[in-house]
Amino acid sequence: MFKAMKLHLLLLLTAALLGACGEVEDTRPGQPVKQRQVAFKEMVKAFEPMGVMLRDGRYEADKFAAMADKLMAKRDAPWSHFGPDTNYPPTKATPEVWKQPEQFEKNKQAFIAATDTLLAAAQSKDKARVEKAYEAVHEACKTCHKQFKER
Ligand code: HEC
Repeated sequence: MFKAMKLHLLLLLTAALLGACGEVEDTRPGQPVKQRQVAFKEMVKAFEPMGVMLRDGRYEADKFAAMADKLMAKRDAPWSHFGPDTNYPPTKATPEVWKQPEQFEKNKQAFIAATDTLLAAAQSKDKARVEKAYEAVHEACKTCHKQFKER
């Protein structure tokens, strides 16, 4: 009986330790790292369904246009949280963000321009144009991540 309790306690402790090492809390005032990560996740939530719809070959112009609107509403949120001195755990950004600010800004502008094009394509309801513009946005995410995000 005592032995069983000890084992139970040990399991609880192990679970607590595993949980703790997976997540590093952002404890800084205003939580800039956490805020930008949440903002990226929100962006993905808007972006991902567009890709799913196109890959599944069931493009619906009106639905797609609504998703493009949602992406536009989310695309500006992460950037203001990349302030100076915000390169600390749990960030997945590379130090390049702060070493090459002009390059980072360029990648961001390219992404913003690509989303503008995607919105225009979505509003045109021209499927071929939409597919091309969607791919361009996807490329803009990947290009920036290659240099500026840890994998
Ligand atoms: C200009 C650069 C840039 C662009 C463009 C960009 N990202 Fe990122 N992304 C980053 C950086 C830097 C991080 C790491 C943030 C951190 O952890 O501090 C990141 C993090 C993320 C994360 C992880 C969030 C988390 O909780 O760790 C996801 C998901 C993501 N981006 C998706 C996207 C998608 C999808 C797009 C395009 C629609 C995109 N990003 C466009 C730079 C970019």
